[in-house]
Amino acid sequence: MDAPIQVHGLTKVYGGGFRAVDALELNVPSRSFMGFLGPNGAGKTTSIKIITNMLTATSGEAFINGVSVMRDPKTALADVGAVVETPEFYPYLTPMETLHYLGALRGMSVGESTNRGRDLLDMVKLTEWKDQRVGKFSKGMKQRLAIAQALLTQPSVIILDEPTSGLDPRGMVEVRDILKQLRKMDVTVLMSSHLLNEVQEVCTDVSLINRGKLLRSGSVADLLDEVKARKIEVKTMRPLTPDMFDRLRSVPGVKGFVVTGDLSFAIDFEGEEDAQARLLIELQNLGLMVVSFKESGLALESLYMSLIMESR
Ligand SMILES: Nc1ncnc2c1ncn2[C@@H]1O[C@H](COP(=O)(O)OP(=O)(O)OP(=O)(O)O)[C@@H](O)[C@H]1O
Ligand SMILES: [Mg+2]
Repeated sequence: MDAPIQVHGLTKVYGGGFRAVDALELNVPSRSFMGFLGPNGAGKTTSIKIITNMLTATSGEAFINGVSVMRDPKTALADVGAVVETPEFYPYLTPMETLHYLGALRGMSVGESTNRGRDLLDMVKLTEWKDQRVGKFSKGMKQRLAIAQALLTQPSVIILDEPTSGLDPRGMVEVRDILKQLRKMDVTVLMSSHLLNEVQEVCTDVSLINRGKLLRSGSVADLLDEVKARKIEVKTMRPLTPDMFDRLRSVPGVKGFVVTGDLSFAIDFEGEEDAQARLLIELQNLGLMVVSFKESGLALESLYMSLIMESR
C-alpha cells in the first residue's frame, strides 16, 4: 500500500518572498509514527497547515490516502484527525459535552459519541474530570482533550503539531504516555517536534527538516545505528587508577576516556553491542565494581546538530 501521507515538492513562499517550505518531500509509511523533527522556524507548522488544508501552498502537492489535498480536500481529509494549534474549547462545556458537540458536527449520534467519548476520556486520563467545565482546565488537560477529539471518528491518519509544546515536565510526560498508546493503535501518525529526545522516545520513524527542506528520513533505529560513536558513562565503587589506563585503552572500541569524578568516568566508544558487552566485562575484570554503565544520547544529539549546521 502507498504511504498514507505523501508530500511532493511542497513549497510555501510567504509575503516578501520568504521560502518557509522549500520543495519538501515527505513519505509517511502506513502504520508508522513519523516524527517531523526540526528546529524553531524550520517550517513544520507551515507544512502541517498545508497538509491539513489550513493554508494554501505556493506549489507542490500533498496526498492523504492517495487523494490530493489541493484538488479534493474534503475527501483527502475525511479520514484525518488533527491537532494543529491547541484548540479553544467552549469554556462552559464539560469534556463529554465537548465531544458530543464535536461528534454531532461530524455526523455522529449521541449514543456513538457517548460510547466513543467514554473510551477516549479514559485513554487521555480525563475521566475524573468529565463533569468539570473545560474553562478550568490546565493547558496539558486541554491538550489531552484535543487529542481525544482528534480520535473521535476513529481516523486512520493522525496529524499533531508539537503536542507537548508549552507544557510543564509533568504535562509533557502525560501527553507522551498518550502518544505511546497511539503507537499501538492501527493508525499512521505524523507529529512535529523540535525535541530529539521526544522523537527518540515516541516515534518509529523520523524526517528531519531545516529551512523548509528535508535533510534526512528513515527509521529511528537506522538513524541510531548510523551513530556508531557512543559515549558511555560509568560509575564504579573503586576508582579508575593510572595503572589501569593502558588496559582500558586497549579494549576494542575504546577511543578514549575522561575521568569525570573520583568514582566516575566517560568512555568514547565505537562499536556494536557485542563489543560494548565485552567492554563491560573488561571493566569488571579490572576490579572496578561497576555500579552503572550507561550510554548517553549525546552522539545522536551531535548528529542532529551537525546535520542542521551543514544545511545552513
Ligand atoms: N504568516 C507568515 N508570514 C511570514 N512568515 C511566516 C509566517 N508564518 C511563519 N513564517 C515564517 O516561516 C518560517 C517557518 O515557520 P513555521 O511556523 O512553519 O516553523 P516551525 O518549524 O513550526 O517552528 P516552531 O518550532 O517555532 O513552531 C519561520 O521563519 C517563520 O517566521
Ligand atoms: Mg511550529
